[in-house]
Amino acid sequence: MSQEVEMQHETVITTGQLTRRFGETVAVNALTLEVYHGEVFGFLGHNGAGKTTTVRLLNGVLAPDGGAARVLGMSPVEQGPALRQHTGVLTETPSLDERLTGRTNLAIYADLYGVPRAEAGRRINELLEMFELADRGDDQVGGYSKGMKQRLALARALLHRPQLLFLDEPTAGLDPVAARQVHDLIHHTSREEGNTVFLCTHNLTEAQRLCDRVAVMEHGHMVAVGATGELARQIGLPVRFEIEVAADQVALALDTLRGMKGVARFDQETHTIRVTGADRELIPGLLAAMVGAGVRVYRVAPQEASLEDVYFSLHERNRAKEATR
Ligand SMILES: Nc1ncnc2c1ncn2[C@@H]1O[C@H](COP(=O)(O)OP(=O)(O)OP(=O)(O)O)[C@@H](O)[C@H]1O
Ligand SMILES: [Mg+2]
Repeated sequence: MSQEVEMQHETVITTGQLTRRFGETVAVNALTLEVYHGEVFGFLGHNGAGKTTTVRLLNGVLAPDGGAARVLGMSPVEQGPALRQHTGVLTETPSLDERLTGRTNLAIYADLYGVPRAEAGRRINELLEMFELADRGDDQVGGYSKGMKQRLALARALLHRPQLLFLDEPTAGLDPVAARQVHDLIHHTSREEGNTVFLCTHNLTEAQRLCDRVAVMEHGHMVAVGATGELARQIGLPVRFEIEVAADQVALALDTLRGMKGVARFDQETHTIRVTGADRELIPGLLAAMVGAGVRVYRVAPQEASLEDVYFSLHERNRAKEATR
């Protein structure tokens, strides 16, 4: 924990009070955010929460009404084209030229991004292989399935080896195997290549599996940001953990637990006892009491809070807040 706090982060995205309106709607409302180098950053929120608008602001395809952003040290508004040389973007509804083949779609893009011809050819083959489109590369995109188009658009976003990837729902419409491949790719690009990924998704399991930190947006406001565990503690979600004790001492262990302060609930299955309590500070006291009573404890395993628990708890809180307004 203390190590986490002391670690110096290099930021690749910084925004201050970033705001964008569409008529009466404040799509992004005073967003102040930092994304660190090499992390997979999850951007969550309901339909219309402002995720796609944020991605567009960060890429300089949309200008803000207020506030500012720095992305890879550049201003998206003033240095959009230079910035986009280093960012890859998978948009929500990628535009591909349906009359052209997959390979030609990629080649045009490589040209646009100044990838040298010889390298482009190699890279295109590599990406077609990677996304299992090699045998369809010379077919017209108009004849591709939805998932194949999505995979081609992903290949296109990666073509110029960007150091910062914006992925707006990259696995929407993909079959489970293809979705898993995209997850592996996201993991690889961040862990092996040191690139940064900004991931908009509605899939909480995907976010939990892939993201180092997440932000939750509601109606243009960022209502939370952090690692799942941190958020769970901030919100005050109960902690759960398992204790495994000697088979002949289960009754003694249960007796010790009964009436202990901070224990909300417990149940038992053979010699494993599952405990729910207010916070993890319960664990040391509980262990001391067990040992004091002579119980032999073999294992204590905290159960990670799920991102789903965090998300719904935040959602409920915000609904309650809105109701009192
Ligand atoms: N070009 C536009 N013109 C008018 N309103 C817009 C435009 N783009 C976005 N909005 C509005 O801004 C708000 C945020 O939209 P945005 O697309 O950023 O949401 P989102 O979080 O990406 O949602 P989803 O999960 O459905 O993709 C919505 O109210 C939307 O209607
Ligand atoms: Mg969107």
